[in-house]
Amino acid sequence: MQISVPFSADQASSYAGDVDSLYGFLWVLTIFFGVGLTLAIFYFAVKYRRRHPDQVGKPVAGAIGLELTWTVIPFIISMGIFAWGAEIYFRIYRPPATAMDVYVVGKQWMWKFQHTEGQREINELHVPLGRKVKLTMTTEDVIHSFFVPAFRMKLDVVPGRYSTVWFEPTKLGRFELFCAEYCGTSHSGMIGSIVVMDPAEYQTWLSGGSGEGTPAQQGEKLFAQLACSSCHLATGQGRGPRLQGVFGSQVELADGSKVVANEDYIRESILNPRAKVVAGFQPLMPTFQGLVSEEQVLQLVAYVRSLSQEAQGGAAGNSMSGTPASAGSNTGSAASAPAAKSNAAATGAKSPPKK
Ligand code: CUA
Repeated sequence: MQISVPFSADQASSYAGDVDSLYGFLWVLTIFFGVGLTLAIFYFAVKYRRRHPDQVGKPVAGAIGLELTWTVIPFIISMGIFAWGAEIYFRIYRPPATAMDVYVVGKQWMWKFQHTEGQREINELHVPLGRKVKLTMTTEDVIHSFFVPAFRMKLDVVPGRYSTVWFEPTKLGRFELFCAEYCGTSHSGMIGSIVVMDPAEYQTWLSGGSGEGTPAQQGEKLFAQLACSSCHLATGQGRGPRLQGVFGSQVELADGSKVVANEDYIRESILNPRAKVVAGFQPLMPTFQGLVSEEQVLQLVAYVRSLSQEAQGGAAGNSMSGTPASAGSNTGSAASAPAAKSNAAATGAKSPPKK
């Protein structure tokens, strides 16, 4: 629903209108009761005023009907607000499987982004119009809060864990991004913008290339550099578990419990490997806490994730990926063949996996 309130930001995401409807309802409700109660106070003050100096009020014994009315009606209204708010909340904080991924790292005092195709940005995020975008966010230092008023989207970014949120931009243009959690001296300068582009222009922008490879490729390099590859063998014969096909699956742990291998689990296993030891393995792995930055952890996570997507031929079918623009644009670079492969895997292309 479109409500235009003066001074309010654009409604530029698919759920912005729903958030505004709820907010508008709260606003109308507040005015209704605020004005109604104030008028009632004046009315009763006049109607029941003392008319003679020696007049004494009559005691009131109680009125069940009246009490039930002013209990039941507000109860229904507040539960209605709860259900309405919860519905919108769960929609916003449960990213759809078809969303494209963007990794976000907050840092005093900037926002760093990385696309699955490899592009990095600081304080600016380019996204295509009409495409669902999932943000996986963490921070290098203190708590920040990712706030895009035009999208009606705000989420705290907390050290030591991943926060996820999604949006679907519905308007072209540039929208303000703020840090909405006081995070030190330059908190007020921790601002940026989300640039919503026409999908074709976005593909052109993407093909500008980063030269550094996709996060999954960078993760693969790190995986070798940090010697992870010496234990996590693809054959399954290593001292650590085989990682192919692990992401998104149920993992059985040494204590008999099971856990879904999501981003948080992979992150924890890198930084605190003994927290959840896989059944059948010894707690031999050293911690990488302090040895890798949050961005590098995200790259390792992207790599582990890509090991499962190649097997499945892409997790999420979506309409825009795997276009000639994205696959064919990496011409000339030495990494061109793996780039195209990981592109397809990471963005969930419909074309068959090349490996
Ligand atoms: Cu980051 Cu305030």
